[in-house]
Amino acid sequence: MIKTALTRLFDLRYPIVLAPMGGVTGGALAAAVSNAGGLGLVGGGYGDPDWLRTELALVRQTTSAPWGAGVITWAVGPEIIRQILAQEPHAVMLSFGDPRPYGEMIKAAGCKLICQVQDLAGALLAREAGADLIIAQGTEAGGHGSQRSTLALVPAVVDAVAPVPVLAAGGIADGRGLAAALMLGAQGVLIGTRFVASDEALGSPLAKERIVRSTGDQTARTTVFDIVRGLSWPEPHTGRALRNQFMARWHGNEPGLVDALAAQSLAFKQAQQSGDFDTAMVWAGEGVDLIQSVEPAGDIVRRIGDEAESRLSVASALVS
Ligand SMILES: Cc1cc2nc3c(=O)[nH]c(=O)nc-3n(C[C@H](O)[C@H](O)[C@H](O)COP(=O)(O)O)c2cc1C
Repeated sequence: MIKTALTRLFDLRYPIVLAPMGGVTGGALAAAVSNAGGLGLVGGGYGDPDWLRTELALVRQTTSAPWGAGVITWAVGPEIIRQILAQEPHAVMLSFGDPRPYGEMIKAAGCKLICQVQDLAGALLAREAGADLIIAQGTEAGGHGSQRSTLALVPAVVDAVAPVPVLAAGGIADGRGLAAALMLGAQGVLIGTRFVASDEALGSPLAKERIVRSTGDQTARTTVFDIVRGLSWPEPHTGRALRNQFMARWHGNEPGLVDALAAQSLAFKQAQQSGDFDTAMVWAGEGVDLIQSVEPAGDIVRRIGDEAESRLSVASALVS
């Protein structure tokens, strides 16, 4: 069994946290990961109160193990954080933006504060906010993120914020990734894309199929899906998605997209509703190479955790 600061903090069987993916990580997926011995975080995204009411109720009903929820910091206000805290999560995760305004409020509720960061400056802000855990997210990650690579960012953040425990995120989808992250000094991992291709994930089966079929070469970071949805993401954040026809047409011609916005945003909404993923986006990270099928989330947690354990126990044989 792998014991780390993460497993001790939440009494987990495996040092694995499920990413709070907006629109994907509902209560059922979060509960499935928590029930398998990881930590499931409901994906509150931009903070839709009705969606959160339903999914937080679901996770509470479906697991008695520790669970939490995450939101996009710049997109929400204190009322959404209060709504989440009222459901008594074990952890709240803040990503993308300054977490300091909410640190005290979250910790005063007896809840652990998790902050996801993309660079050293963000890691220092997270520490100032009182983070109990800091996630160093590399550019390989699916969805929004930034430019630093997991391999170099994780140990740099570990050194910068010690003794605050750090988790690695971005491109981790199997036990090899978990074992490697532990060697970088991380106390565990946060995984997103691998769980998009799970039975319990919300979202279209067609999107899950595309993830299974794709390779990391077919992903790229872009702002075109934010522009067309009218979302003002602060720099330097971009989103990693599977390349599709929409990305091929507009990535590199963002001013052209802005000029054509009225017509394009209408067509885009229709594509999202009809599941046309040649136009609508499928957020996914470089780890898609490692995903061969859609599976129950609990099986994914156990396989990644068990594979990391066996990789680590044979690794010592490398040293003579
Ligand atoms: C479909 C999808 C949606 C995501 N949505 C969010 C989100 O709403 N909030 C957030 O903090 N991170 C979000 N992320 C990023 C994850 O928190 C995490 O950093 C990332 O999934 C880790 O990399 P991986 O996808 O290679 O496992 C999302 C990722 C994906 C794949």
